[in-house]
Amino acid sequence: MPRQYDIAAIWNPQFVNNIIQVLVEALEAKETFIQGHNRRVSEICLAIGSKMGMSQIELRDLYTGAMLHDIGKALGTTEETLNKADPLNQSEEIIMREHTFKAGLLVVGLENLSHILPTIMYHHERWDGNGYPARLRDESIPLHARIVCVADSFDAMISPRSYRPAMSREEAIKELISEKEKHFDPDIVDILIECLKENPHELNDFSYYF
Ligand SMILES: [Fe+2]
Repeated sequence: MPRQYDIAAIWNPQFVNNIIQVLVEALEAKETFIQGHNRRVSEICLAIGSKMGMSQIELRDLYTGAMLHDIGKALGTTEETLNKADPLNQSEEIIMREHTFKAGLLVVGLENLSHILPTIMYHHERWDGNGYPARLRDESIPLHARIVCVADSFDAMISPRSYRPAMSREEAIKELISEKEKHFDPDIVDILIECLKENPHELNDFSYYF
């Protein structure tokens, strides 16, 4: 029977982006201090990627990986664990760390999307090899995952948490610098600092990308 409709023909980028944002906001609603985090991380990633001269397709993939990097927390991570002020116990820590795998399982096999799996899987790796889940080190960590890692950490630093107030932007920059070649890719830290100097205002609206 011939199809009487072609909904794909009338979808546009804003429409698709709004759907992604609604889903990510539903995830963020589980955590008290996280509202807007994924949007800000994605914007920071786009600023870094633009500065690096990435193509539009690469920026799109970086953006998508950044928006979805923590989507695995939707699966089996309780609100109690997500919002716990005290250090996580071992079993909570294991479940929390599983979010990298779980998100990977959501995108693997999806045509045109599975290539962002490394961004999601490895955004908690560290430059010095002490991250998770695979203890990858320096440039063996996929580039997009290294960018998300820096952006994710920077936004976490400048945002309040239940157990500490937000750092100032200057304090966060000092922290990023002190973690070069430990937690972070040193070149990406330098690029983010350049971006921040060029844009001294808050990064909170990336609508101009759409
Ligand atoms: Fe994460």
